Amino acid sequence: MAANNDGPAYQTDTLIAQDIDAYLQTHQHKTMLRFITCGSVDDGKSTLIGRLLYDSKMIFEDQLAALEADSKRVGTQGQEIDFALLVDGLAAEREQGITIDVAYRFFNTEKRKFIVADTPGHEQYTRNMVTGASTADLAIILVDARKGVLVQTRRHSYLANLVGIRNIVLAVNKMDLVDYSEEVFRTIVADYRQFAAQIGIEDFVAIPISGFKGDNIAARSDNMPWHAGPVLMDHLETVEIAADADIGKPFRMPVQWVNRPNLDFRGFSGLISAGTVKPGDPVRIVPSGKTSTIRSIVTFAGDLDEAQAGQSVTLTLADEVDCSRGSVIAAADNPPQTADQFEASIVWMADEPLLPGRSYWLKLATQTVAVSVHEPKYVVDVDTLDHLAAKTLELNEIGVAELATEKPITFVPFRDEEDRVSPTLGGFILIDRITNQTVAAGMLHFALRRSQNVHWQALDITRETRAALKNQAPRVVWFTGLSGSGKSTIANLVDKRLNRMNRHSFLLDGDNVRHGLNKDLGFTDADRIENVRRVGEVARLMSDAGLIVLTAFISPFQAERNMVRSMMADGEFVEVFIDTPLAVAEERDTKGLYAKARAGNLKNFTGIDSPYEPPQAPDIRIDTTAMTPEEAADMIVEHLLGW
Ligand code: ADX
Repeated sequence: MAANNDGPAYQTDTLIAQDIDAYLQTHQHKTMLRFITCGSVDDGKSTLIGRLLYDSKMIFEDQLAALEADSKRVGTQGQEIDFALLVDGLAAEREQGITIDVAYRFFNTEKRKFIVADTPGHEQYTRNMVTGASTADLAIILVDARKGVLVQTRRHSYLANLVGIRNIVLAVNKMDLVDYSEEVFRTIVADYRQFAAQIGIEDFVAIPISGFKGDNIAARSDNMPWHAGPVLMDHLETVEIAADADIGKPFRMPVQWVNRPNLDFRGFSGLISAGTVKPGDPVRIVPSGKTSTIRSIVTFAGDLDEAQAGQSVTLTLADEVDCSRGSVIAAADNPPQTADQFEASIVWMADEPLLPGRSYWLKLATQTVAVSVHEPKYVVDVDTLDHLAAKTLELNEIGVAELATEKPITFVPFRDEEDRVSPTLGGFILIDRITNQTVAAGMLHFALRRSQNVHWQALDITRETRAALKNQAPRVVWFTGLSGSGKSTIANLVDKRLNRMNRHSFLLDGDNVRHGLNKDLGFTDADRIENVRRVGEVARLMSDAGLIVLTAFISPFQAERNMVRSMMADGEFVEVFIDTPLAVAEERDTKGLYAKARAGNLKNFTGIDSPYEPPQAPDIRIDTTAMTPEEAADMIVEHLLGW
């Protein structure tokens, strides 16, 4: 296994985070460039990556031998090695191991170390492109010289610019197949320049290459003497990297964890996302707003006199201040803002479309909060750059929407007025709260002014006072189940019993609320989510007033029932599952709606052509096939009053 310089023993392998750390340690003296390659399926992406690895002599000898054998077997022209086989072979290995979204490959030269995120070229892999791209310094946009600029080229360029990649290389590949024609190259570059300008890419470097033959990759090609610009490897070795740009910004470090091994030491650990820091520097902790000064910068290698963007450190402060995971330690005179409503660009990456109003997790730096996204203002047609009206975001769509977080978060706009990009505190991902899958990536544009001007008004009479006056503990008793399952009937009986016992209760019923407050809502998924959100808010206000609130709504989605639970005080939300099998509800068909739905005269009917997600862990489950409504009501009242 002959590695050819001082590199670690796994230069061409795929990586997981710990490996990246180990690798970085070994080559600490060199700067590192992270880049991505974007291209359509046959643009020669794998060949280019293979060629870069080969030309930097990063392939193990035994791997090389296997490759030559493979190339012969597959019948590649002549003696030449098919570099695509190398990379694709690694990809196949990877598939047998742990699945990761993006495969990172790395190599190094005398001047620099490199990490390349291998992002697949198919249309449906936007997700990988965005996750791989969010940390990249540079993107190589590959174009096939025979095909020129394609929809894919535009899409990848748009995304690369959207996620804040500062350096774009237009690599016009397969020049050998167009007789190394300068004219072909110039036409493609002119074409690309026109599109790039429209999406805000003012600067890019164009290089005519052949990944297959090695033209203008590591060495200047004799076949294209007319090319005066750099060759690819030289450019990669010398271009400015993002960390350098971040160093010039105000200091910021999102706190990952509080390091408290004993009572004498309390340090805040994290990765510095911008600026530099020294002991004695005044800092402000956001969101608490408290100020202090840096006492020391601790690392495994000892205390430092200074640290900068890109370094992981533990900071100790001169004062005991409120600071925990999710807080940001920032330059005292230039702290980031906090807000809870934003406009953002969102790239949707899940098969299931966005459900406006649904509660997702938003992860930004080390903060995780519940968030809901409004209906998009528009989606972008990446080909024409037109803004199109939309009710949702589908897989791979890019849109602009407002979103509201449950609590204020600390952030920096993704792109500031000077066009500087702050991915760490300006970029975020959205996660499905039930499946835990990443469904979108996004960029915060700005905070909405209304979020800063509306403040919570503290009331002198508390909810406890109001409840005590009624001699009861507030509850939200949430009935869920199919249409015709018996929710309203049973809730009504519970209401009557409570009333007889001098309890102050109120019943919010689906059909009734839909006549007034929610008469603008229908039965699409999005409308049902909004229905439940509003009812949840009303129920919360009523519980603040000290009432026992009963609600009877189908409320078909677990995510929204969980959301309402999270809005209430601990233990106040009681989920009651009226468990009536579809066949039984349909048999009863008290309102005749099942018959209509079956006949195709009523669309989106729950249980027929619209889903119902039964509660996984209801507080109370009522099997209506095994007890009467009266028995069910007794059971619920007993539970509520703790008898
Ligand atoms: S929810 O899904 O948004 O929670 P909600 O409980 O408010 O529904 O309303 C359900 C009631 O609306 C049903 O009991 C039924 O009377 C009526 N309804 C009319 N159309 C539909 C439909 N497509 N699906 C379910 N219920 C419908």
